[in-house]
Amino acid sequence: MQTLKPLGEVVAPSRTEMDLANPSSVRETIRAVRPRWIVNPGAYTAVDKAESEPDLAYAINAEAVRVMGQEARAIGAGVIHFSTDYVFDGSGSAPYVETDATRPVSVYGASKLEGERALAESGAGHMIFRTSWVYAARGKNFLLTILKLARERETLRVVADQYGAPTWSRDLARMTTEVIGQCETAARGQELAAVLADSSDIYHAAGAGETTWYGFAAEAVRLQKEKEPGTRFAAIEAITTAQYPTPAQRPANSRMNCARLIERFGWKMMDWRDSLREVLAEL
Ligand SMILES: NC(=O)c1ccc[n+]([C@@H]2O[C@H](COP(=O)([O-])OP(=O)(O)OC[C@H]3O[C@@H](n4cnc5c(N)ncnc54)[C@H](OP(=O)(O)O)[C@@H]3O)[C@@H](O)[C@H]2O)c1
Repeated sequence: MQTLKPLGEVVAPSRTEMDLANPSSVRETIRAVRPRWIVNPGAYTAVDKAESEPDLAYAINAEAVRVMGQEARAIGAGVIHFSTDYVFDGSGSAPYVETDATRPVSVYGASKLEGERALAESGAGHMIFRTSWVYAARGKNFLLTILKLARERETLRVVADQYGAPTWSRDLARMTTEVIGQCETAARGQELAAVLADSSDIYHAAGAGETTWYGFAAEAVRLQKEKEPGTRFAAIEAITTAQYPTPAQRPANSRMNCARLIERFGWKMMDWRDSLREVLAEL
């Protein structure tokens, strides 16, 4: 919200004002607000729980997005939507490009893929940013969990055979602001439809570089130790995915090729190590 503010008024309905699990609530809110842009970072993100709650996951990750697309099309609004590396099965070791075949291996991934398709089918001008391993200095996320547990425990065992890149939510927010700004400049105050017709697409937008969850945790704890030399932190131990069974399967390869984002909008996502330093400095 803070990052988007310079673009204009930002209306951010709370969960009670607009329940993503309730299509009519989404429809009515969009009809009442009549936004020029819809930015949707809302999602059902409990990857493991989704395996036993598929209806709710699909309602929020697919049906709500379908309604956003339909309503946006009706009023000529642009939709910025966030999706995930979990639309892929994680085979191979090459960074995924946007045109690679999708094959989600979890309910969460499948519901997010359905959301992508629903938005594309709606005919609304849209951009879908697939990201990975999102974290920040606030909220509930892997980094904050690791730092908390590292203060409480002797050892932390972290999966070291899933590869990808952590992405700072503020980098995504800044990228979104830049993209909307560029579209608005091109539209010159007129309708967005023509501009969005050129850019409506999927873009990969993940942190640059690559690591594993273990590498991320180890680097975070190493840097935090530098900041707090007197504090004891847990030893970080590398384990395999097989040693940490979860209800949902996760892709082993979450590497994303973000060249399309650079080519179309000139935006290069931050290297995960640089953003990690900035986030830790804020804690
Ligand atoms: N986190 C990751 O590692 C990751 C990776 C790849 C892609 N993504 C994608 O990035 C986007 C943002 O993810 P995130 O990590 O920021 O997720 P998050 O922390 O779980 O936030 C999701 C947001 O959606 C809201 N929400 C959930 N159910 C709702 C409902 N029924 N009605 C209204 N609001 C509802 C939540 O509200 P409350 O605060 O009230 O719960 C929360 O603000 C999502 O599209 C996600 O699929 C995330």
